Amino acid sequence: MFCRCLFVSLILFISPVCAAIHYLTWKGDPARTMTITWQEGPSLDYKLFSEERWYRVEGQKISIGHLTLYRAELTGLEPDTSYMLRLSGGEEYQFRTLPEKLDRPLKVAIGGDAYYNPETNEQMNKEVASREPDFVIMAGDIAYTEGIKYALRPRSWKIDRWAQFFEAWSRDMVTKEGRLIPIVATLGNHDIREGLDSPFREQVLFYQFFVFPVTGVPYQVLKIGQEVCFYLLDSGHSFPIGGAQTEWLEKNLKENCGALFHIPVYHIAAYPSETSFTHRGAKDIRKFWVPLFEKYGVKVTMEHDNHTFKRTYPIKEGKIDPEGIYYLGDGAWGVTPLKPQRHWYLAKAAQCNCYWLVTITPSQCQFQAFNLQGQLIDEVEVIPQKQPTL
Ligand SMILES: [Fe+2]
Repeated sequence: MFCRCLFVSLILFISPVCAAIHYLTWKGDPARTMTITWQEGPSLDYKLFSEERWYRVEGQKISIGHLTLYRAELTGLEPDTSYMLRLSGGEEYQFRTLPEKLDRPLKVAIGGDAYYNPETNEQMNKEVASREPDFVIMAGDIAYTEGIKYALRPRSWKIDRWAQFFEAWSRDMVTKEGRLIPIVATLGNHDIREGLDSPFREQVLFYQFFVFPVTGVPYQVLKIGQEVCFYLLDSGHSFPIGGAQTEWLEKNLKENCGALFHIPVYHIAAYPSETSFTHRGAKDIRKFWVPLFEKYGVKVTMEHDNHTFKRTYPIKEGKIDPEGIYYLGDGAWGVTPLKPQRHWYLAKAAQCNCYWLVTITPSQCQFQAFNLQGQLIDEVEVIPQKQPTL
């Protein structure tokens, strides 16, 4: 008996903890829908937090190589409302829709360049989750599966790496009350094989793990009511920066010109802290997007890819100007931080891991940068934009 107990104990001790994948995102209205992807079995149950009756949904089966996931979009939900979610194994979590109006502060965590060092990524996940954001925007270079360094890796390795990113996300990105924190993604250069992976072909991993309002089109405007617009852009990885995407951007900035806050989020930096100012992507963003940001009243943009912390001076028409735009970043969620250069436009920069927490009320939008240890390292506040004169 002793031997049997010892054997069972040893098995329990040495077995790796198999984390399952379950994560939330949106392709529809974030106040009234929720798209759930999960691994634990073909169906799940959900209910209003305040009621007893459960509803069952069957997921669409998603086969990603040797990995099987299920996905369903819940629709007809109530804004700013808590729900319960029950997976096949019996685990229960909460989730919450976004508000339709800014009648409470909205908290959004923004970062990029994540699953490079798994331990750093995990520590940052936990730090971000402790702030209990409504959701996270992960702005590219998410699982680090593409690029020269990974060119010879087999597809099965890449699938496993994405699965590990989502296992960590599922485990770490939960508030202390058990609320799952949704993830919304933009693309980075390490997420797809640039020039080879068509977003409209099947089996491109980034497009299998994430969903978008228009299938295969990663740029989108995520609106919170009529007051806040996040423009999630593709900085030239699946789609060119200029051309159709720029036309789409202008159309959407114009259509939403009554919003209080416009916040573009993308991977490559127009005003980089570590990479070259003449990087092709940076030049294209300054050429095609920045004039539109300036024309339509953007006060802050969120940039990544540089593996540092940065805040620029406000910049307008290529010069420091108090009426200009702050470029915040700079993509250091779970990477080894790099040393920033001494560019003329950098008001503050540091070699450290960081993310930004954005807290939005009708009267102001506060941007706070935190490091891996949860220390506040920078802060910027902007007030609602004036209606641009068009
Ligand atoms: Fe990058």
